Amino acid sequence: MRSISITRPDDWHIHLRDGEYLAATVKDVSRYFGRAIVMPNLTPPITSVQDAKNYMVRINALIEGVSDFKPLMTLYLTDQTRPQVIRDAKRSGFIQAMKFYPAGATTNSDAGVKSIENIFHLLEIMEKENLVLAIHGEVTDHSIDIFDREKAFIDRHLVRICKTFPNLRVVFEHISTNDAATFVAESTSNIGATITAHHLLFNRNHLLSENLKPAYYCLPVLKRDTHQQGLIKAATSGDAHFFLGTDSAPHPRFAKESACGCAAGAYTSHAAIELYTEIFDRADRLDHLEAFASHNGPDFYGLPRNTDRITLVDKSWEVPPYYTFGKDSLVPIRAGESVFWTVVG
Ligand code: NCD
Ligand code: ZN
Repeated sequence: MRSISITRPDDWHIHLRDGEYLAATVKDVSRYFGRAIVMPNLTPPITSVQDAKNYMVRINALIEGVSDFKPLMTLYLTDQTRPQVIRDAKRSGFIQAMKFYPAGATTNSDAGVKSIENIFHLLEIMEKENLVLAIHGEVTDHSIDIFDREKAFIDRHLVRICKTFPNLRVVFEHISTNDAATFVAESTSNIGATITAHHLLFNRNHLLSENLKPAYYCLPVLKRDTHQQGLIKAATSGDAHFFLGTDSAPHPRFAKESACGCAAGAYTSHAAIELYTEIFDRADRLDHLEAFASHNGPDFYGLPRNTDRITLVDKSWEVPPYYTFGKDSLVPIRAGESVFWTVVG
């Protein structure tokens, strides 16, 4: 049996939800991740330091005495965000990033920013205060094909943001194309990107051919296999621009398998590091797993790396067909199938 030991990893992009769902998501993420960047797209969204603090307290209440896991909080930018909120966020010490959702780009983004120009004055303050901007990088223009919306975002907005604010630290979240991977790889060290396990494991054939599979539907939507291959290359390259962010985004079954549309979001938190390990193993790049999962993220955010370690062995286990999720169920990625690595300590 093969085994691999790495510095304890962190998840730099996750959706923990709230209320009746929170205990389940926190339990999964805190099994072995040291920290996670917690997305603010609740309903209503987390827009103030006080909201973020209350949310953090609810998360911490579930892990006290159980795990050393630490949630890292974010705030949701809107057209109405006041400059003082940015300064307060920086001063809080527990908010690590401001999240920019173009209004309408994804789940719970309706309160997002209608036009990036509306928040340029805030980006200027973030650049000065050295507070990270986390971007959902897709245009919302319906005349642009959904498979091209990430590239259009780079061309129309990201190039300009990076030029106008050269010292702003930007995370291009859950990248899904070669265009994004190349853009980030060729950028300065101020620009980083998270890559999900599902964008590395799947392409749009998995989503669309034979039957349409709701569990694979997420945003940005899965692209063609050449993009998947490009993302695998970027993630496993050891390049410090790229780091682990699962974008694990659970939806109850009634919202995924619904007659009036399927909610966007894939759940991988039950098997996150196990799935990434499988991807790195298949690419014959297990030697770069630790950089991607445990070093590049904290280095980008200017936080210390974790000091302890976890170990995985190549022993497979079965994912159940669903998990209980509030009053409903949740169909995770790999439901009813095998995961090939197991965390043993
Ligand atoms: C996320 C969610 O469900 O909150 N959905 C998704 O498809 N990734 C939102 C997001 O990160 O885009
Ligand atoms: Zn997300």
